[in-house]
Amino acid sequence: MKFVDIHTHILWEVDDGAKSKEMTENMLKTAVDSGTETIVATPHMNRDENKDISETIKKVKKRFREFKALIKEREVNIKPELGYEVYFTYELMRIENSLLSELTIDGTTYILVELPFEYFSPTLVEGIIELRKRNVDPILVHPERVREFRENPLLLADLANNDVVVQVNSESLIDDTDTEKARFALRLIKSGVVHIVASDCHDDKNRIPDMRAAYEIVAKETSPYFAELLFYENPKRIIEDKPITEPSEVYYEILDNKSKFSKSWFIDMAGKIYSKLRGKK
Ligand SMILES: [Fe+2]
Repeated sequence: MKFVDIHTHILWEVDDGAKSKEMTENMLKTAVDSGTETIVATPHMNRDENKDISETIKKVKKRFREFKALIKEREVNIKPELGYEVYFTYELMRIENSLLSELTIDGTTYILVELPFEYFSPTLVEGIIELRKRNVDPILVHPERVREFRENPLLLADLANNDVVVQVNSESLIDDTDTEKARFALRLIKSGVVHIVASDCHDDKNRIPDMRAAYEIVAKETSPYFAELLFYENPKRIIEDKPITEPSEVYYEILDNKSKFSKSWFIDMAGKIYSKLRGKK
C-alpha cells in the first residue's frame, strides 16, 4: 500500500516535532519503509506566532530547503512538500491574502487548521467555515482529539456540511491507550464524514510516520477500496489541488454490498448531510 501523508512535524527544530536532523532522517526512513511516497511537512503555526507570521515562514522555508537537500543527498525516495498546521484564531481571518496563501499546502488552496483543545467555542467552528470566504479550503485536523466534538458530533457535521475537509490522525485509530478516542475516530470514518487520514507524526519513537496499522484497521472495518480513498487518493488530490471525493459517495456504494456496515448512531445524520455530492468550488 502507498500513502500520501499531508500532516507531519518532520522538519527538525522548528516546532514540537523532530528534535534534531538525525531524528528527521529516522522519520524519513520510517515513512519510506512503510510506503509513503509524498510527505507534506506541516510545522505548527501557533497562536503566538500568528503575530509574526512572516518571520516564522522565513525560518520554516529555510529549514524546508535543508530538508529537501537532505532527501537529495541521502537519495531518499520520497517527494517533499510544504504546508503548515495553523492554530485557528480570529486574527487569522484578518491577515492579508498573500500571507494566508503562504500557509496553504504547497501553493494549493488547501490549508490545515487546528482548533484549540481547551478553549473550544462553537463560534470557532463558524470561523473556520468563514475562512472559505478568503478563497481557501480549510482542512480540519484531528477532531477526534477535541472533547467537544466527541460530545457533540453535530458540530463536526456542521463543518463537513459546509465544505470543510476533515482529517483524522492514523495514531488515533490504534487502540493502545485511549479506547474512547479510537472508537470515535473509527465511527467518524464509518459514518463518511472523514475525508483523509494522516500521521501527524512528531518523532521517531512514538508518533511516527507509519500509517500501515491504521490502514489495516480501516480496510478491515470498511474495505480496502474505501481505505485507499482516505489514505492515498484524497490526500493525493489535495497536493494536486484537485477536488476530493466525498467518502459518503463511496461509502454508500459499499453499504449496499456489505452487511458488516451496520447502522450506527451517525449514519442517519451523515446520510442526510451527504444527500447530494459536493465538490470543491
Ligand atoms: Fe499536527
